[in-house]
Amino acid sequence: MIRGGLVITASDEMAADILVEGEQIAAVAGARTGLGERWAAEADHVVDAGGHYVIPGGVDGHTHMEMPFGGTFASDTFETGTRAAAWGGTTTIIDFAIQTVGRSLREGLDAWHAKAEGRCAVDYGFHMILSDVGDQSLKEMDALVGEGVTSFKMFMAYPGVFYSDDGRILRAMQQAAGNGALTMMHAENGIAIDVLVQQALESGRTDPKYHGKVRHPLLEAEATHRAIQLSRVAGAPLYVVHVSAAEAVAELTQARDAGLTVFGETCPQYLFLTVDELARPEFEGAKYVCSTPLRPEEHQESLWRALRTNDLSVVSTDHCPFCFTSQKELGLGDFSKIPNGMPGVENRIDLLHQAVVEGRIGRRRWVELASTTPARMFGLHPRKGTIAPGADADIVVYDPHAEQVLSAETHHMNVDYNPYEGKRLTGKVRTVLSRGKVVVDSGEYLGRAGHGRFLERSTCQYLI
Ligand code: URP
Ligand code: ZN
Ligand code: ZN
Repeated sequence: MIRGGLVITASDEMAADILVEGEQIAAVAGARTGLGERWAAEADHVVDAGGHYVIPGGVDGHTHMEMPFGGTFASDTFETGTRAAAWGGTTTIIDFAIQTVGRSLREGLDAWHAKAEGRCAVDYGFHMILSDVGDQSLKEMDALVGEGVTSFKMFMAYPGVFYSDDGRILRAMQQAAGNGALTMMHAENGIAIDVLVQQALESGRTDPKYHGKVRHPLLEAEATHRAIQLSRVAGAPLYVVHVSAAEAVAELTQARDAGLTVFGETCPQYLFLTVDELARPEFEGAKYVCSTPLRPEEHQESLWRALRTNDLSVVSTDHCPFCFTSQKELGLGDFSKIPNGMPGVENRIDLLHQAVVEGRIGRRRWVELASTTPARMFGLHPRKGTIAPGADADIVVYDPHAEQVLSAETHHMNVDYNPYEGKRLTGKVRTVLSRGKVVVDSGEYLGRAGHGRFLERSTCQYLI
């Protein structure tokens, strides 16, 4: 039983007690019903949440554990990455399985199952990255939807690696329109970006800061616009990942105002960091290389605004860590060889809580952005993303007053730097339950590799 906290969901806040039976929430009772007294007398274990928030465990809909990129692999495994997620109050991740060019979806998915199975601390699902759309992979999409892999990411960036041209994108979207899957898009015009990359390198502009220059905000906006029109032609919904440019937000706003079924996600790095980080001396800017890139500060107001108006409806991390020493250094002398990605799976809930502290969003919106909407978007609700009878007992007891300083010295992600090093935050995860099991409590890790299970997801619930 979890006793005496302020239970916060996307829709309500109430002083309530929660009864957990096995892996699920059995009942929720308002503090004044007196039911809590009875439960406390009989419960095997009472977690005191007095003075704390009680929220549904975070759902991070965008991670890349062990992702291959530019000859290396993201440094968090499913074991270390999901443990770090648990530390940070995230009890579900959805990672991206990858189809390699010339290979089947099945092969890619099997490889991801093999990496994750028996190793995860918290529950996990998969999206599938389509790198080679053709007759065979289109057919395979239907099969994957039947196995609970109900969302597919394509890339308008990275020609020669993950890139899909407009024809392939349209075909995959048509297939998704038929089978109910959600199309996720990395919206950047990679063909134009590659021209700018070559021009920069040829003129000797090789430092990390040029990563931010060549990936122009208008090339994000253009791709976002194109993705929206393609999805409209196909009659399929669209979810644009890691939105960072104000001009891209404007495309989403316009589409949503016109009644189109398009959604946008952003990530803490775009809300709390700016392109200035890329100019750090001694190649340190490489720590901040990710795509879409960090933007000038003026973009942040649009992102915050869109989070309030729901033109952006999810905050996930795009957790894709590469160590500074040995991995980011692959791009010394050529910014285009810096592995793209940043760590964040452990820090998302706390950073978003800071936005609550600073008055940018309310507490229920915090829960909605970090847990409820991603659960709905990716077919996990009401099992995940809320506190209600019958839901999985994925619960976080959150101390809204605790102070902490983010640092690589104390984080649990398997990476040698923290992008927010030294940042002071108010609020900290105290206790975390994953399917009824206490996995983190007061600075102690009590979970185990293999507790986390694969989640077969249904199709996006926003569309029904
Ligand atoms: O830089 C990033 N975002 N790396 C991960 C791959 C992706 O595009 O999401
Ligand atoms: Zn991407
Ligand atoms: Zn990503």
